[in-house]
Amino acid sequence: MSTPETSAPATTPVPGRREWWRDAVVYQVYVRSFASSGQREGGAGIGDLPGITSRLPYLRDLGVDAVWITPFYTSPQHDHGYDVADYLDIDRLFGTLDDADALIGVAHDLGLRVIVDLVPNHTSNEHAWFRAALDAAPGSPERARYLFRDGRGDDGSEPPNNWQSVFGGPAWTRVPDGQWYLHLFDTSQPDLDWRNPEVGDMFEVVLRFWLDRGADGFRIDVAHGLLKEASLRDQVLPPGSEGKDLNKVREESMVARTDFDEPMWDQPEVHDVYRRWHRVLADYHGDRMLVAEAWARTPEAIAAYVRPDEMHQAFNFLWLLADWSAREFADVVTGTFAAMGPVGASPTWVLSNHDVVRHVTRYGGGAQGLARARAATLTMLALPGSSYLYQGEELGLEQVDVAPEDRQDPSWFRTGEVGRDGCRVPVPWKGSAPSYGFGPDDAQPWIPQPAGWAALTVEAQTGVEGSTLELYRAALAARRGLAPADAVQVDVDGDVLVVDRGDLRVVLNCGASDVALPEGEVVVASGPVSDVLSADTAVWLRR
Ligand code: NOJ
Repeated sequence: MSTPETSAPATTPVPGRREWWRDAVVYQVYVRSFASSGQREGGAGIGDLPGITSRLPYLRDLGVDAVWITPFYTSPQHDHGYDVADYLDIDRLFGTLDDADALIGVAHDLGLRVIVDLVPNHTSNEHAWFRAALDAAPGSPERARYLFRDGRGDDGSEPPNNWQSVFGGPAWTRVPDGQWYLHLFDTSQPDLDWRNPEVGDMFEVVLRFWLDRGADGFRIDVAHGLLKEASLRDQVLPPGSEGKDLNKVREESMVARTDFDEPMWDQPEVHDVYRRWHRVLADYHGDRMLVAEAWARTPEAIAAYVRPDEMHQAFNFLWLLADWSAREFADVVTGTFAAMGPVGASPTWVLSNHDVVRHVTRYGGGAQGLARARAATLTMLALPGSSYLYQGEELGLEQVDVAPEDRQDPSWFRTGEVGRDGCRVPVPWKGSAPSYGFGPDDAQPWIPQPAGWAALTVEAQTGVEGSTLELYRAALAARRGLAPADAVQVDVDGDVLVVDRGDLRVVLNCGASDVALPEGEVVVASGPVSDVLSADTAVWLRR
């Protein structure tokens, strides 16, 4: 376990020294779906911390720099850990604090950093604070840690405002004494009131607890949501959005850069929280970092989270939202560098995570989807900044069509829409049938794996030329040889994207036919190359 050191603040710029996170490749582990030790009581078929620790050598050999682990805290698991009942302990389903220490220790011994997932927007409804709030009277200090309000209408039976939960339905739930509490996500995830100083003080304790245990950084869940407009006024919904999925309408408006009123997100006061956290991290040695999950609407709004005295990185979801189009990819790259440059932050890139449809499937699935996914990944890995990979993408996994009776995502229960379970199916490690080595025994995983994954296991792809796993290994190895960079030159020629990074040229063919392969020595390619570059293929060339 590392101890705090006050002599070398984390973020003091030292000429010639580059913080590790600026160029890191971070591998996201979704705890319950990565690997099971089979040792946890009640945890058959569920991934856990000892399972992760046992697979860290695999991640070292894959060539990543850090591992981000989704929430492992005590939790009733209504949103698989994003509903935290105790921020200072591990859910027994996943292990113990000793297991967490062991994981961090082994990771560090292997040269891997560990990023812990922090969930500050809401707690679980089983957190001691929320239980106390329910037991206390309206207007009490216990209720003041959350957003309890009286309802509207003569008898208060209407929610206090018109906000929708991200998981569908109203963002308010009524308690027996007639008040309502706000939950921007599931009813089991009450939002904290960050205008109450007790909340900020509690999270400083949490940050220090994990920093003292050696955490190298934090991924901040719903980073743009902590502060709401104080009036809690109604949201003005865009014309024509009635009856539509508001998340989709919002995403479309992000891409189109049209106005969208959102008094619940991205309020100016949220930045004070991150200035405080920046100072907390600076008390520790070793370039500890914060990465924001901030679905802010524009690159400029995202850049505000990574100003020099705030967080260190923010996920760049515009890259993930881009269509299969050289022009769209180019615009995202250019827009990202233009926004990050003025605040001195390094960009991030991500194509898949536990909340979105896997990118093989987004790009159409099957052979073409896989070819495009491999090409997009190879392009991404050449871009300066950090790349975030999601477990299983290195195997080319597709989104799984999970049967209704096996679905567990709270959004499925609230809306009847398919939800996110399909990207959370446990990783296939070896063998020819489920559970594909997910645990030491034959316990079936918490979501069934498809029968057809035998050819996709780690074992089946290891050492096989052309496999997706070997492509990732080769690209990550080649990436280690790249000189650090803070800028690229981007060009679009028809359907072809060309990115120049120093003497490296990346060519991505988003079109439907072959194009001539430019001059240069092939470093790594996402598919076979000859004197032409096929459709849906990317290549790195040394010029
Ligand atoms: C974002 C997380 O990535 C997602 O999985 C979770 O459901 C919500 N935040 C709520 O915490």
